[in-house]
Amino acid sequence: MAVKDLHEKPFDQGTIAKLEIFQDYAKAWLPTFVMRNRPKVCVFDFFAGTGYDKEGTPGSPIRTLQTIREQLHEILPKGIKVHVHLNEFEPTKSQQRKFEALKQACEEFLDQNKDLRRATVIHYHNEDCGNLFPRLLSEMNEHPSLVYMDQNGVKFLADQYFLELEKQRETDFLYFASSSYIWRLGETPEFQQLGFDVDELKKGTYSSVHRGVIEQLRRRIPPKSPLRLYPFSLKKGKRGENVFGIIFGATHPRAVDKFLAISWKRNVVNGEADYDIDGDAKKVQTTLFDVQPLTKIQKFKENVKAKLLAGEITDNFGLLEFAYEEGHIPAHAAEVAKELKAAKRLDYEGTSPLVTYDNVYKNPRPQKYVLAKAKTAAV
Ligand SMILES: C[S@@+](CC[C@H](N)C(=O)[O-])C[C@H]1O[C@@H](n2cnc3c(N)ncnc32)[C@H](O)[C@@H]1O
Repeated sequence: MAVKDLHEKPFDQGTIAKLEIFQDYAKAWLPTFVMRNRPKVCVFDFFAGTGYDKEGTPGSPIRTLQTIREQLHEILPKGIKVHVHLNEFEPTKSQQRKFEALKQACEEFLDQNKDLRRATVIHYHNEDCGNLFPRLLSEMNEHPSLVYMDQNGVKFLADQYFLELEKQRETDFLYFASSSYIWRLGETPEFQQLGFDVDELKKGTYSSVHRGVIEQLRRRIPPKSPLRLYPFSLKKGKRGENVFGIIFGATHPRAVDKFLAISWKRNVVNGEADYDIDGDAKKVQTTLFDVQPLTKIQKFKENVKAKLLAGEITDNFGLLEFAYEEGHIPAHAAEVAKELKAAKRLDYEGTSPLVTYDNVYKNPRPQKYVLAKAKTAAV
């Protein structure tokens, strides 16, 4: 499929959204390792582009450098080095126009920000990602890493890349995937190699195709793997006819917590798309005669309520885990516990159900939930 050159025109809204999510995550990710005095951390941007679009809007490499610049006051005193691997390669063109533009943009940015040079080591690569990726795996494995796979299309979702990322234990990644291509072209030999079940995808809605792609990717992960995947769908094209999206992957709950906070901040209704992926807006319009379908948040809350009242979730550790599993921020789960306590159906010590990353992982404060009935029976 012919791919348009993104950098010959201004970034569209979907591209900007994708870049903002990458940058927001990079901003949340970097301090974790800086705080822990890790001497070397790495960012791998395998499809780096030219640094800026035609109008000077920063692309991923410049956003990475901006992110490091913002945190120099923490990074420099600790002598930490951020190694940034930037790769740009035009498979169909013999000239290296984009690669040269990338180097120039980054070097100019460093020249304007002299202190940044002391904290950053840039490794420029001009290679097909298919060749470079396996060579950089050991480096990725040795240091805390953030990997950005901003491909055109879906080719690099193939197992030889995706399952290698699964094996990493301190690597968080953001993939970009043109999921609706799989819907439209999934039966062609080129796409079939990727192993997606297009019939199954088409049982869902076109709007939710990216979610469907992630569900299939989850099944490729070995059963006991700690890796978790989350989608963020984006509509692209003049009439929003293409559904693309981000696939976020990480093994640590801290990373999951940060990504969910970012995605639910971008969309407070569904936390996983830049549009109304499940038609929730219609669901909240009251009708006199119909049974009202539940929105995503309402459905989740009903599930939480049922699990708490059935005694399937009995403490804050279990409740936080359920929220992460379902792709919800902990606050959604906490609200249910609080409502049940107010209704005297559930009890716990103090005023907070303590469903936060900090209360479960950082400074663990176990909080038992006791069913009102069980409490009465015990009295
Ligand atoms: C979607 S763009 C990336 C945009 C970039 N992240 C930014 O913010 O500007 C994909 C880039 O990957 C490059 N590319 C395409 N195929 C590639 C390959 N096989 N290996 C490495 N780079 C490739 C393209 O030239 C293009 O600049």
